[in-house]
Amino acid sequence: MTPGAATPLPNPYTPGQVPRVLAGRSVELGRIRDVVSRVATFGELGGPLLVFHAPRGIGKTSLLRAAQRQAEEVGFVTAWVACSRERPFLPELVRVVERSLRRAEVFTDSSDGGWRARLDRISVEIGLPGAKVSADVARRDPPADHTLAAPISALEDLLHEAAVACRRRGGAGLLVFLDELHAASADDMATLLNALQNLDGEREDNPLAVVTAGLPVTPEALTRAATFGERSGFVALDVLSDEDAAAAVTAPAAALDVAWDDDAVARLVEEARGHPYFLQLAGSATWNAAAPGAGDVIDLDDVAAGVPEATEQLTAMYRARWRAATRAEQAFLAAMAEAESDNVTRAQIASTLGVDSRSISGPRERLIEKGVIEPVGHGLVRFTLPGFAAYVRDQA
Ligand SMILES: Nc1ncnc2c1ncn2[C@@H]1O[C@H](COP(=O)(O)OP(=O)(O)OP(=O)(O)O)[C@@H](O)[C@H]1O
Ligand SMILES: [Mg+2]
Repeated sequence: MTPGAATPLPNPYTPGQVPRVLAGRSVELGRIRDVVSRVATFGELGGPLLVFHAPRGIGKTSLLRAAQRQAEEVGFVTAWVACSRERPFLPELVRVVERSLRRAEVFTDSSDGGWRARLDRISVEIGLPGAKVSADVARRDPPADHTLAAPISALEDLLHEAAVACRRRGGAGLLVFLDELHAASADDMATLLNALQNLDGEREDNPLAVVTAGLPVTPEALTRAATFGERSGFVALDVLSDEDAAAAVTAPAAALDVAWDDDAVARLVEEARGHPYFLQLAGSATWNAAAPGAGDVIDLDDVAAGVPEATEQLTAMYRARWRAATRAEQAFLAAMAEAESDNVTRAQIASTLGVDSRSISGPRERLIEKGVIEPVGHGLVRFTLPGFAAYVRDQA
């Protein structure tokens, strides 16, 4: 870096947090914008569920947060739920929608137009203990057992009423974001898919859309939860292109009048291989090494100091993943790492382990669920973190 820095500036990089500048992702934001403008223009349901899927750290949450900001700017009320295995997401959704409507002043404590009572009723229905949802329940043809349809129609009511209320107050409509959708139970997924399908039957009365994100297992889980789940809009998020990766590095600094020289950017981009989390991690460590002031230029020496520190942090992540794996999972990972190719077949792993390929299904599924590996079609899997294979080889 050029010496003579003035007061050091705050670090603009955001490992583990929503980035200050979302690099690339214009195609994906475009997909969301299509849905959003359909709601805004026609006041109708924005098409089927939109599902972004990718391994950990690729930028799902960051993308959805950017879309949320954009939608709010054009008059949407937004609600955000991060699904979790620990709790059903529907009661959470009721709470979050209520809070969003209140914040957007769609209703207030003094004039809630009967909302409180309606929300309470919906909460009770959604919270029905043991309520099970069958995959193809339609509103026109409710099953004999009323409890089966209750959560679906409650969710329909919630989304319909909330969206109409937003629109009536002059807003564009309601946009619901569900992050970590893979963690939702099959029942919750079925409820969501059925409710959306039913709302689509009267789509001109439902100015809303639901945009979701989850690990690569999400499309399969949705399709298993309800057959028509396969008609959702699935979009895989990939690592960043070199050009976008370079922007992820330079843009946050440029906003503080700090530049990166070309060699420094190229080196970092090469190290990160498009992985947004590593870009933020190494960008942050490099920034700390450089401690630049306004007008300074970050150079190759700074990167040389920053990258090992980022790698060390990444190693801590590898270690945590390795230690959280059971013995069978570790054996599976070791066999995968031994293949020394990015995508590894089930047969390769089984033959390395000297077992039948059916017997590795258990560890394979669990590692996918944990986000340590991901399926890439035709029975192939790959590691989700760059450099993890090498770490696993060191352990073995
Ligand atoms: N387009 C982008 N431009 C710049 N930085 C990004 C971008 N996308 C993600 N990041 C950075 O990468 C890291 C991971 O992003 P994010 O949390 O959105 O990933 P994720 O896919 O939601 O991961 P997880 O599955 O663990 O929730 C964060 O530090 C974020 O700042
Ligand atoms: Mg996330």
